[in-house]
Amino acid sequence: MDIALAVIGGTGVYRLATLEDEEARHIDTPYGAPSGPLRIGRLGEVRIAFLARHGEGHALPPHKVNYRANLFALRQAGARRVLALNTVGGITDAYGPRVLACPDQLVDYTWGRESTFWDGEGEALHVDFGHPYSPMFRHKLLAAARVTGVRVVDGGCYGATQGPRLETNAEIARMRRDGCDLVGMTGMPEAALARELGLEYACLAIVANWAAGCGDAQEITLAEVLDNVAAASAGLPELVGELARG
Ligand code: HPA
Repeated sequence: MDIALAVIGGTGVYRLATLEDEEARHIDTPYGAPSGPLRIGRLGEVRIAFLARHGEGHALPPHKVNYRANLFALRQAGARRVLALNTVGGITDAYGPRVLACPDQLVDYTWGRESTFWDGEGEALHVDFGHPYSPMFRHKLLAAARVTGVRVVDGGCYGATQGPRLETNAEIARMRRDGCDLVGMTGMPEAALARELGLEYACLAIVANWAAGCGDAQEITLAEVLDNVAAASAGLPELVGELARG
């Protein structure tokens, strides 16, 4: 049975509890090992692969994640569509804590990460990236959200920062001027690598906190982040199931 959908879980989402007949597959790739085992199982009639981006014990900070190995392993396992769950901070008004959003643009502020499969040999991989998330797959995600009654904000610009520290108020003010609505540390190079591999890739951003200096942001704590991610994720299994079937 083909894999209908791959899901990459971010901070606070380390397993898909509703997967049936789950098997853990340990895959190696030419780019090294992925963050952990691929957990392949069924949601009803369809097969899903799940991978925890930071490892199942959250051992890997954003700049240490082997994004190339993760995506290569998912494709090697047969996935063609990847739903990326990214825990983020909210910058603009529509993106407060516990909001789910499906961004349609991104700005990359990361540096020093392995951001291409191109090794300098063969044909240059100057992939088109004007629309960094697959428009068709975004459309399917938003349709699945409507069917399941899960509220997902359509659109927004994801700013990918290097981390692992959070941003200064001035950095977030600059990102707001740049047009960013959301800030997270794991959106890139994942989206670009997915494009290089020809994967249909979309992001479901889970807003865990107001970004520095936004909303009523005080000090951002991990407890607050995890609490908001858990609350916002309640509808995820249903949404993922509907998306996988579609
Ligand atoms: N900034 C960057 N990454 C994040 C944040 C944030 O405020 N919250 C969750 N991931």
